Amino acid sequence: MINQATILPANPGASYLRLKPEIEAAVDRVLKSGWYILGRENEAFEHEFAEYLNVAKTVGVANGTDAVELALRAAGINHGDMVITVSHTAVATVSAIERIGALPFLVDISPDTYTMNPIALESALKGSAKNARAVVPVHLYGHPANMDEILTISKKHNLIVVEDCAQAHGATYQNRRVGSMGHLAAFSFYPTKNLGAMGDGGAIATNDPALADRIRLLHQYGWRQRYVSEIPGLNSRLDELQAAILRVKLTHLDTDNSRRKKIATAYNQGLIGLPIHLPTTADHCEHVFHQYTIETNQRDALQQSLRNQGIGTSILYPVPIHLQPAYRDCFTGSSPLSCTESSARRILSLPIYPELDDEQIHSICEAIRMFFV
Ligand SMILES: Cc1ncc(COP(=O)(O)O)c(C=O)c1O
Repeated sequence: MINQATILPANPGASYLRLKPEIEAAVDRVLKSGWYILGRENEAFEHEFAEYLNVAKTVGVANGTDAVELALRAAGINHGDMVITVSHTAVATVSAIERIGALPFLVDISPDTYTMNPIALESALKGSAKNARAVVPVHLYGHPANMDEILTISKKHNLIVVEDCAQAHGATYQNRRVGSMGHLAAFSFYPTKNLGAMGDGGAIATNDPALADRIRLLHQYGWRQRYVSEIPGLNSRLDELQAAILRVKLTHLDTDNSRRKKIATAYNQGLIGLPIHLPTTADHCEHVFHQYTIETNQRDALQQSLRNQGIGTSILYPVPIHLQPAYRDCFTGSSPLSCTESSARRILSLPIYPELDDEQIHSICEAIRMFFV
């Protein structure tokens, strides 16, 4: 029987409770240090995160949206430049492009992985997006985009590649961590992410020290030397408290991702045989299940039925970017987005986080089974 306690769709508070002594020791250390912005914690986190990703450099920034924007700006993307990405993503991916005054061009996803369809990318580059300067593939739900093909196409068309890794910390593609394959990569540490801070946070990864240097200038007023701006910049810093918390969480990331994968396997087994589409993992990919997303034509009714039983779910994302009120008039020239639109009508993400226990998973599967009886 379903436990009446609500099962949350995501639960960053549970992660705090599990890691309380370590997190509180880290917070205490920062509070007592008297140094709260760009200090030792930032430096150490940037180093540890770069080692984890196997990249030359990472630079902490204020959030994932800034990470996408600053990565593009560091690579020289300017006002009026075209940047290709997907419509099936967080609005942040597109708003970051727009903030530079660049022009987002949206392409469709592959229905199996919900990530950028390389065929759609190639055909956009042969048509209306032939002058594009950059591409932002999004590793959505924890599943890597098809990087081999995207990198090959990008090379052919001389595109800057900025990976959006906000939902895929620790995922691998052909044994390489996402965030280590493009020219640059953007991470968000929003609290519900696989690597989540306790507030906002973000980082940019790159193997190019010159790009890292430029990001370091851009993220703090263009300063190399304090109070002297070499280039116009802004304030987008990861604060010391968040960096210290992220250092704790990073040591647990692989174990947490393993637990997410176990939960996904339990869902796969518990939901087998039902008229729903279960998530798949492409060859040579390691999916880290930021989301466990199913598809059904009865999505809204299923969501309501689960809600009635105290089970929270989410829809990422119910309205594709090109159909959002803020944007629907901007993308009339974009490529066909039929997979994006049909997924948006059918997708539902079930609760998934390391603290979700086996009994809760069983209850969720039973509730879904009963819905389809
Ligand atoms: C795919 C994607 N890109 C970018 C972002 C932006 O991150 P933030 O919320 O930290 O600005 C998010 C976070 O929601 C995201 O999911």
